[in-house]
Amino acid sequence: MDIKKLINLSQKPKLFERSEQKFWDDPHISKKMLEIHLDPEFDAASRTHEFIKKSLSWLVDSIFTEQDQKILDLGCGPGFYSKELAKKGYSVTGIDLSKRSIEYAKAQVQKKELNIEYKVQNFLTLDFEKEFDVVSLVYCELGALTNRERDRLLNIVNKALKPGGKFLFDVFTANNRDENDVGRSWDLVQKGFWDAKPYLSLTETFYYSEADTYLNQIIVINEKDEISLYRIFDHFYNKETITKVLDNFGFINHSFYSDLKGKKYDPSSKTLAVVTEKL
Ligand SMILES: C[S@@+](CC[C@H](N)C(=O)[O-])C[C@H]1O[C@@H](n2cnc3c(N)ncnc32)[C@H](O)[C@@H]1O
Repeated sequence: MDIKKLINLSQKPKLFERSEQKFWDDPHISKKMLEIHLDPEFDAASRTHEFIKKSLSWLVDSIFTEQDQKILDLGCGPGFYSKELAKKGYSVTGIDLSKRSIEYAKAQVQKKELNIEYKVQNFLTLDFEKEFDVVSLVYCELGALTNRERDRLLNIVNKALKPGGKFLFDVFTANNRDENDVGRSWDLVQKGFWDAKPYLSLTETFYYSEADTYLNQIIVINEKDEISLYRIFDHFYNKETITKVLDNFGFINHSFYSDLKGKKYDPSSKTLAVVTEKL
């Protein structure tokens, strides 16, 4: 085992320093991830089905107007939102990095006459211009981006929206923070989330107070002593910090809620949902 390399990797990296390893689009991880998405009761990867149902009702009844017809669903995953919105008559484009999730999403709408298009693509490379009435980014994906990626995405969203179009998304807040989250743990398994074969995983959690961001760093060592490194960021926002960001990118009239079911804004909530408009 290359202990020196492990010691090196386990140092706290610079804020937002990414690893090269695939995550959402890794063949094994995306399979495990899809299983998590599809668990109706499990609030991870996708919200519970109960939550999604209420969220869709709120969006359609209280947020969308008659003009809102064309929707771009970024990071659509297995298409829970996209499919239901298309069933309600909206024209939907769903984009996701995970081939496996998009294949699943496509299979769900086969033979149905829905106005829906799914595409495997990195949303950071999109180039739509004034095409959509609504852009959605559901389940706190904005906070998983580095600041540079976030800014790039906000430019892409702004360009993709028609004037007056809506951008809706949610983020985790610092109310998720638990001081005990910072630390180290390990796991030794026959097969699991990170690999279908036996592996040892070393997990470290770092906190960057300057950006209110956590990093979960997972070092995975397989039977052949090969080392893989995964870095997952979690950038917390509040009403003030997200307002500052949105103001910089030409968004106006921000409305805040505790979640994407339309729960009234509460500063003690663990999530913050935002509906904002392109100028
Ligand atoms: C937390 S999941 C939410 C999925 C879906 N919105 C839902 O609520 O069921 C985040 C999704 O974003 C996708 N994703 C992450 N980074 C992406 C990127 N750069 N481009 C496209 N999709 C991305 C992942 O593959 C994953 O399906």
